[in-house]
Amino acid sequence: MMTVLVTGGAGYIGSHMVWELLDAGEGVVVLDRLSTGFEWAVAPEAKLVVGDVADRELVGRIIRDNKVDAIIHFAGSIVVPESVADPLGYYENNTCKTRTLIETAVREGVPHFIFSSTAAVYGGAGLEPVREDARLAPESPYGLSKLMSEWMLRDAAMAHDIRYTALRYFNVAGADPRGRTGQSTPGATHLIKVACETALGKRPFMQVFGNDYPTPDGTCIRDYIHVSDLAAAHRLALQRLRDGGESLVANCGYSHGYSVLEVIDSVRRAFGHDFDVRMGERRPGDAAAVVANSDLARKEFGWTPQRDDLDQIVKDALAWERILTGKNSARS
Ligand code: UFG
Repeated sequence: MMTVLVTGGAGYIGSHMVWELLDAGEGVVVLDRLSTGFEWAVAPEAKLVVGDVADRELVGRIIRDNKVDAIIHFAGSIVVPESVADPLGYYENNTCKTRTLIETAVREGVPHFIFSSTAAVYGGAGLEPVREDARLAPESPYGLSKLMSEWMLRDAAMAHDIRYTALRYFNVAGADPRGRTGQSTPGATHLIKVACETALGKRPFMQVFGNDYPTPDGTCIRDYIHVSDLAAAHRLALQRLRDGGESLVANCGYSHGYSVLEVIDSVRRAFGHDFDVRMGERRPGDAAAVVANSDLARKEFGWTPQRDDLDQIVKDALAWERILTGKNSARS
């Protein structure tokens, strides 16, 4: 049986991917150095190897021992302001290590590679949904570190026997509807996570970062996509590559957005009570609206989102936040 290597499989999106693959009957091996991920987040049916994606020997051995025919590469750093403070760290961890991983994949003859990219490659988008051929103008080292990786993949795929799909994620949120994994990073800054934490009393209050944007209610608009739909998109993209599909770069979002206030209202509905929300200043670097045009993913690999419903995303995120509270109190 062929096996899929999931790097970063102990992290938020990676741990959902592992379940998605196992549910589809795939063999899975996870490579994660557990710097931000958790061993308990990895499904017990998957093999976990603790180590670094740039460790050529280790990755080579994993590929050979498990007959890996595809790498889904999630491992990387994802905090935009952190990347501004430490650009070289981001280029090292996201770009240089991805280069080494691609090199190992080519050397070992792995034919398929799926890469976690980001809407941050576009920079400030307008109110219109953004297509893959829009201008690429990352506004942070994080976005550029991912874009450079896309370009390395493009060139490697032209020179060698490897095909890839880079998926540009919009705002990933929610949790496994069966409560098996979720967003567990302490101190996360993502809106839905922050709002759920505030509702459950883990934070005394939360802030809305600016309400003077040129949007209907003045707060920023984002395209929130359920993490399970995102994992399904990867599985379909992998199927397409295995069926001989050409290399591809595709957006993953729902093609419509919600404002910060709409998201907070949804959390209030899911929680059933109000919580302390304060108006704050704009956060530097925030674009007024970032919404995907996801026609390509739908057309190229038949992606049909199943959970395109903000209330469902929020309900699953809140349910996971409660499970996490239980896990953390059991540990302390
Ligand atoms: N927001 C608040 N209060 C909070 C947290 C967020 O008002 O406490 C607002 C932000 O200002 C923004 C929106 O909620 O308008 C969404 O913010 P997130 O931090 O959840 O997400 P971003 O859109 O900033 O970031 C996402 C991904 C990044 C990616 C970026 C660029 O999380 O990885 O999109 O596309 F780089």
